[in-house]
Amino acid sequence: KGDVLTDTFGRQHTYLRISLTERCNLRCTYCMPAEGVPLTPNEKILSSEEIVRLAGLFVSHGVDKIRLTGGEPTVRKDLVDIVGALARLPGVTDVGMTSNGVALSRKLDSLVAAGLNRLNISLDTLHAHKYELVSRRNGFSKVWQCIEKAEHLFNPLKLNCVVMRGVNDDEVADFVALTEHRNLDVRFIEYMPFGGNKWQTKRMVAYKEMLDMIGQRWPSIDRLQDKPNDTSKAYRVHGWKGQFGFISSMSEHFCGTCNRLRITADGNLKVCLFGNAEVSLRDQMRAGATDEQLSEVIGQAVLRKKKQHAGMENLAKMPNRPMILIGDSTASY
Ligand code: GTP
Ligand code: 5AD
Ligand code: SF4
Repeated sequence: KGDVLTDTFGRQHTYLRISLTERCNLRCTYCMPAEGVPLTPNEKILSSEEIVRLAGLFVSHGVDKIRLTGGEPTVRKDLVDIVGALARLPGVTDVGMTSNGVALSRKLDSLVAAGLNRLNISLDTLHAHKYELVSRRNGFSKVWQCIEKAEHLFNPLKLNCVVMRGVNDDEVADFVALTEHRNLDVRFIEYMPFGGNKWQTKRMVAYKEMLDMIGQRWPSIDRLQDKPNDTSKAYRVHGWKGQFGFISSMSEHFCGTCNRLRITADGNLKVCLFGNAEVSLRDQMRAGATDEQLSEVIGQAVLRKKKQHAGMENLAKMPNRPMILIGDSTASY
């Protein structure tokens, strides 16, 4: 147990991210090109049975945390059933989801009842008109309603805010203000390059610059202790209820403590968010592979995982899927 998912750098992979769909009800600029992306035909998307079988296999090799992503996971009709089945797998302690929150409010209670215990909602601006510019759709008021409900159901509710210079960098301190009386963890994410998102260095705001901006408004900021495999560096304005943090994938990567593997909606195992190294678990399953054979394929892929990603300059040039097709976007733009 554990060995199959341990890589050549000794990293144990205990966190599996599963993309449920390539579809999304938004069209965010940082996630997909305006024209959208060609979608995989439905029959090539994993069924709920295939998802649960694969998840069970990873859990048998030591995974204890599963996060559902997309596309936007709530567009999938069998979402609540999938959450229930994953939560029932013996050994799973955390079932999370990353969502854009647009169509989530009325599903929250049944998701929690099914076993969802972690929720991250994407929100990049506090202004309805800007929301429309970034996401190319309406939705701000629905997301806000959802946040007001979800903040009482999760401990804490996390908000993901991708910061882009000239777009929403002026709102960083306003987002921090949300944490004064609410049990929120607002995470500012450095803008990352992916296929089709027209990333430019000048649009990226490094976390130290954000921290300076926040410090100008609230000089009394405490650095908190991060959990071992956290993507974010955590902070709190002294005495406030919630916290904030930075996901510094670009300016200070955290590959050394990476414990993640991902499965794309079309059934590929992706051992790193960046880069195109993928292997189809769907094809293996549909060709009749046994659990032992699948484990062998998974183990080989994990052994090919690189030490760290290629660095800021190279990432932008590397072939990769658009974010919407990787499954780290929730807000598919
Ligand atoms: P928790 O499970 O709550 O820790 O959330 P998370 O930060 O792992 O996941 P979430 O889906 O909320 O993603 C937030 C941001 O972190 C997104 O921009 C992701 O692309 C980024 N992210 C998630 N996993 C990885 C990873 O393995 N490597 C890098 N570099 N970034 C990641
Ligand atoms: N850079 C950084 N974060 C991104 N996300 C989507 N695309 C990008 C990008 N280019 C974020 C979404 C969501 C999270 C899972 O990934 O906002 O919150
Ligand atoms: Fe892990 Fe790859 Fe992300 Fe680094 S870039 S943290 S190795 S997924």
